[in-house]
Amino acid sequence: MILKVEEILTLAELEGLAESCMSPMAMAYVTGAAADEITLRANCEDWKRIRLMPKCLVDVSEIDLRTNILGQEFAMPIMLAPAAFHRLCHAEGELATAAGANQGGAGMVLSSFSTVSVEEIGAALEQPLWFQLYAQEDRSLTQEMIQRAHAAGCKAVCLTVDTPVLGARHREVRTRFQLPADFKLPNLKLGPISHRPVRGAIYSDLLNPRLNWKDVEWIASVADVPVLLKGVMNPEDALRAADSGVAGLIISNHGGRNLDTLPSTAEALPRIAEKLGGRLPLLVDGGIRRGTDVLKAIALGAQAVLVGRPYLYALSIAGAEGVARVLEILRTEFMMAMALTGRRSIAEIDKTVLF
Ligand SMILES: Cc1cc2nc3c(=O)[nH]c(=O)nc-3n(C[C@H](O)[C@H](O)[C@H](O)COP(=O)(O)O)c2cc1C
Repeated sequence: MILKVEEILTLAELEGLAESCMSPMAMAYVTGAAADEITLRANCEDWKRIRLMPKCLVDVSEIDLRTNILGQEFAMPIMLAPAAFHRLCHAEGELATAAGANQGGAGMVLSSFSTVSVEEIGAALEQPLWFQLYAQEDRSLTQEMIQRAHAAGCKAVCLTVDTPVLGARHREVRTRFQLPADFKLPNLKLGPISHRPVRGAIYSDLLNPRLNWKDVEWIASVADVPVLLKGVMNPEDALRAADSGVAGLIISNHGGRNLDTLPSTAEALPRIAEKLGGRLPLLVDGGIRRGTDVLKAIALGAQAVLVGRPYLYALSIAGAEGVARVLEILRTEFMMAMALTGRRSIAEIDKTVLF
């Protein structure tokens, strides 16, 4: 590659650069979202729409990004969102991502559908590791996944609750998405089975359309680590979650990949924060592309953000170095935004940072 990673200046330019580094099928998988991709665009646009209030004459010569989430120490409130099949982006798959997370100082949520096992990632990652769970219809298999994740060093389980079925992902259909024959899904002890619908046009072999609140309570009761629900957008669901034994929520619309025309997460987050009144810690993902987006998310009630597509593009462009570069850009921009709004610590970020 001619480009040096230092020459990448913004997360926005990564998609264009990645095009020549991934197969058309992989590119369609990462880039795409559901239907008309309205929610995908809204996720990015709505963070940008929010205006910030500067604050002058504060001594910002030292800025501390460290934060504590669920009793766990993080170097900064930015994590890598779970994404399936990293080997579509890079030959070393999630191992390269973990090396980038180490270098960039960010926690990582490993997908159930990772192409490297949770044990290998647990051994490689020096930052906090959480496990994203796609609960299977077979409870014993689900329990085994949770136990393996715990034994591998995962400090939380993020149960994805927004995907009983996939959305209408036209780009995946057009490019005839299929996993290469040598791919494995080692967390499920499966070969190259894709997430695409096979039964009755909407149901997938890897997704559980029966998942319900009873399962949430059961999962929270059998997990030895905190369980977060990933994919909550409805304030009523958030309220119910607070009574279901879960430890936190990730406000997410799956990067616009499932139900199109959902609100953006920038719109959903403050409503849920208000409804919950601090009963559960909240994280958020979707469209986080700038350090200012991170600041806004925290001001609106999130403890941390997760970033998805940008690091996958960077993984395909420059492997671990690329992932680390994404984290470096976000961290630097976030620190600039904190300094210019007179904030020296995460605890000092509140609603008054918004105009
Ligand atoms: C290629 C790709 C694969 C994904 N795979 C998963 C997954 O396996 N499990 C999950 O809970 N979310 C998955 N997501 C959703 C992300 O965790 C996250 O919610 C979303 O990407 C955040 O939006 P952003 O890409 O705009 O940052 C995936 C997203 C992408 C782009």
